[in-house]
Amino acid sequence: MILCPSVLSMDFAEVRGQLAAVKAGKAQWLHIDIMDGHFVPNLTFGPDIVKMIRRESDLFLDVHIMVDDPVTYAKVFIEAGADLITFHVEACPDQKAILDLIRWIHSTGKKAGVSIRPQTPVDAVLPLLPELDLVLVMSVHPGFGGQSFMPESLDKVKTLKAAIQAQQLDCLIQIDGGINATTAKLALEAGVDALVAGSFVFKGDIVANLNQLWALTSR
Ligand code: DX5
Ligand code: ZN
Repeated sequence: MILCPSVLSMDFAEVRGQLAAVKAGKAQWLHIDIMDGHFVPNLTFGPDIVKMIRRESDLFLDVHIMVDDPVTYAKVFIEAGADLITFHVEACPDQKAILDLIRWIHSTGKKAGVSIRPQTPVDAVLPLLPELDLVLVMSVHPGFGGQSFMPESLDKVKTLKAAIQAQQLDCLIQIDGGINATTAKLALEAGVDALVAGSFVFKGDIVANLNQLWALTSR
């Protein structure tokens, strides 16, 4: 299991302490939500913030770009220090554009993922699985932390898990939105490999919250 605290809920006045707690809680990735105010109705971080996090943390930087122009911003955030770029299939005009961007990200030596919003059917990503390092299933409408988990997303996870196993692929399944100790358990049972959690991790005692997630699995 990979734990991916979402820095959307981090207290930026306490960056060093919060990043140290995330590390002490044995999270392996930091999930960084980039929103452009167009693809989603919220605006978050620019590349300088990602550079700052890169400087302050040695964790794997999982950058989720919720933007209308993923081609431009994949490049911008790789230059800023991303290890993985996950972009939305809904932001791309067609399948060729999606594949071209996955292959371009790989050509830089970085990992590539795609994400689907709750209203997008899982079929949109099934043909892409052999090319991908990760599929991110959104379990809330992207844009804000602190929303409630949508249980319908679990069927998508099960479909992806079956397809990945049948083809013996290396693609990870990540889930994002409304994850807490209860919903994380459901997600893991459905086949999720990587859990994103923002408000659950950063509200209160970060290490204790991460330990609650670790207690769900021995993987
Ligand atoms: C939402 C973001 C999430 C967000 C999750 O659009 O993609 O990564 O941080 O927040 P929680 O865990 O609070 O639902
Ligand atoms: Zn996210």
